[in-house]
Amino acid sequence: MQVIRFSDLVSQGQVAGKRVFIRADLNVPQDDAGHITEDTRIRASIPCIEMALKAGAAVMVTSHLGRPTEGEFKPEDSLAPVARRMGELMGREIAVIAHWTEGVTVAPGELVMLENCRVNQGEKKNSEELARKMAALCDIFVHDAFGTAHRAEASTYGIAQFAPVACAGPLLAAEMDAISKALLAPARPLVAIVAGSKVSTKLTILKSLAANVDQLIVGGGIANTFMLAAGLKIGKSLAEPDLLAEATAVIEAMKARGAAVPIPTDVVTAKTFAADAPASIKAATDVADDDLILDIGPHTAQALAEQLKKAGTIVWNGPVGVFEFASFENGTKVIAEAIAQSSAFSIAGGGDTLAAIAKYGIEKQIGYISTGGGAFLEVLEGKTLPAFEILQKRAAG
Ligand code: 3PG
Repeated sequence: MQVIRFSDLVSQGQVAGKRVFIRADLNVPQDDAGHITEDTRIRASIPCIEMALKAGAAVMVTSHLGRPTEGEFKPEDSLAPVARRMGELMGREIAVIAHWTEGVTVAPGELVMLENCRVNQGEKKNSEELARKMAALCDIFVHDAFGTAHRAEASTYGIAQFAPVACAGPLLAAEMDAISKALLAPARPLVAIVAGSKVSTKLTILKSLAANVDQLIVGGGIANTFMLAAGLKIGKSLAEPDLLAEATAVIEAMKARGAAVPIPTDVVTAKTFAADAPASIKAATDVADDDLILDIGPHTAQALAEQLKKAGTIVWNGPVGVFEFASFENGTKVIAEAIAQSSAFSIAGGGDTLAAIAKYGIEKQIGYISTGGGAFLEVLEGKTLPAFEILQKRAAG
């Protein structure tokens, strides 16, 4: 992807003394008391900020937090807890500036955080007036918010149109490079794992991947629908019978290319959905009418693990079973360990997937862990994200 990279501007000495506006994605989860419960996105945003400060820029960073009502700032919308956490991690005080669209005072070597950008009127609808005001605050706009790269808002898209220079920050660039490596020029075989409760939410992804990958491993409720399509009984497991035709179309599309959707040969079932529900391992042909399938069985897990070990590239989105419950975590654990042991380039994304990676402690063995939720899914759907589109356009002049 041809975009201007902030790191190149830094190495060309074009950043010293410049006003740099960084759009990060600092949209982190908080508990009811406002405490940050997970700070990966804050940590992932720091290298760009450090890069800008080290280069001698006057640095402004902003992000959205949640989905506030525009023009109605409430205390819980504030980025103050984020600035505090970032300040702790960077060992410096970070001031949060409110009402910043008309002007910001910041000197070279200084860093300020601009309050929740989604409180500004016109942000979501990408108002040109707002975007032009933001663009006027800076000499260089740096898009480093991969998690928000699928949104075309004033602070992600409009500002990139009007800022004197618009470029990709190191996090956005790393995500772009990992995505290109996994999906545009993958080492084969390319294996994708797409799991989740519903086919309907991931249908576009399944269709898009069916045209590209060599193996499409489905899991969770999605696998149940595929089992139904393959003529198997699934008892009272979660599935979408109205999408059987779509599932069959995916299976046929894969078959026509000499690729496959492996259907589980054994499963782990229970009579109720509960952590302490007794688990039974059975052949996929033996599922009873009152069974709930909560995991793939050990033979299926082992067979999939073998395929993953031989893969050239692995794309992972979604755990294959209810891995939060010890009795139903084996499938996800075996798959996670197989990905960790595989020499394939692997890319993983999505909240549940990241939780599974953390649970099995395999962060270091994954080629790239995406910070994107919805953005990662849209990439898998084969969409061009607005962030990439506008930065490419700006790079082309
Ligand atoms: C996310 O958490 O996926 C991003 O920060 C985007 O947030 P949004 O869905 O509210 O635009």
